[in-house]
Amino acid sequence: MIGKIDVSRETCSCFTGAVVDLLLPIHTDRLTIRLLVPEDLERHAAIMGNPEVVRFLYEDPLTADEAFQHLLRRFGTGSPAEGEWRNFAVDADGVLVGEVGFSLVSSQHRSAEVGYMFDPDFNGNGFATESVRVMVDLCFDLLHAHRVVGRLDARNRASAAVLERLGFQQEALFRQNEFVKGEWTDELVYAILENEWQER
Ligand SMILES: CC(C)(COP(=O)(O)OP(=O)(O)OC[C@H]1O[C@@H](n2cnc3c(N)ncnc32)[C@H](O)[C@@H]1OP(=O)(O)O)[C@@H](O)C(=O)NCCC(=O)NCCS
Repeated sequence: MIGKIDVSRETCSCFTGAVVDLLLPIHTDRLTIRLLVPEDLERHAAIMGNPEVVRFLYEDPLTADEAFQHLLRRFGTGSPAEGEWRNFAVDADGVLVGEVGFSLVSSQHRSAEVGYMFDPDFNGNGFATESVRVMVDLCFDLLHAHRVVGRLDARNRASAAVLERLGFQQEALFRQNEFVKGEWTDELVYAILENEWQER
């Protein structure tokens, strides 16, 4: 299932290799996942300009101009090419509460990665978990990934908890693996395999 749509290979083989846009918007119990549009700039800037949101991301809080450029880079459509991300808006009751995305890491090794960020005003509702679940479904059902990973700053407990709620396992702690915002940071890698996801 992707959101409320059954796209299993048995029931809907026509989606094999299809682009994600055909499925959008995707509705879950409480959320709508859709393409980002220019009208999202104000909310996107509010989220990416918030120091709490970017604390464990690579970016410093974005200015309005930077947020505009950042949003422009998120307007891609279709299934991502290797190394590319596709990002989506997450609406709750018509308000953009966060953004989620996935990336095709390697075609050869059928690996993908998920990402997410939410407005702190909407934390604690399970919105991240609910929408990242859809991203994982897309990775397995559309990209035909064998393995999906999440990478995060080891201090980012809330992010680790999202992946753990979805059944990801911590596989690695890379000590001082990245130099971010003037300091060496430890990186955690979480992963879930196709058969583990299907069995859940
Ligand atoms: C990472 C991030 C998305 C996590 O947000 P979050 O609100 O903790 O995660 P969720 O939306 O899944 O909500 C989970 C919380 O809601 C609660 N909850 C309430 N209803 C729920 C439901 N229906 N389903 C699941 N959880 C629910 C959970 O118990 C949990 O509470 P807790 O934090 O007290 O344990 C958020 O902190 C964030 O955007 N951070 C900044 C960007 C970032 O670091 N992104 C990750 C980069 S690797």
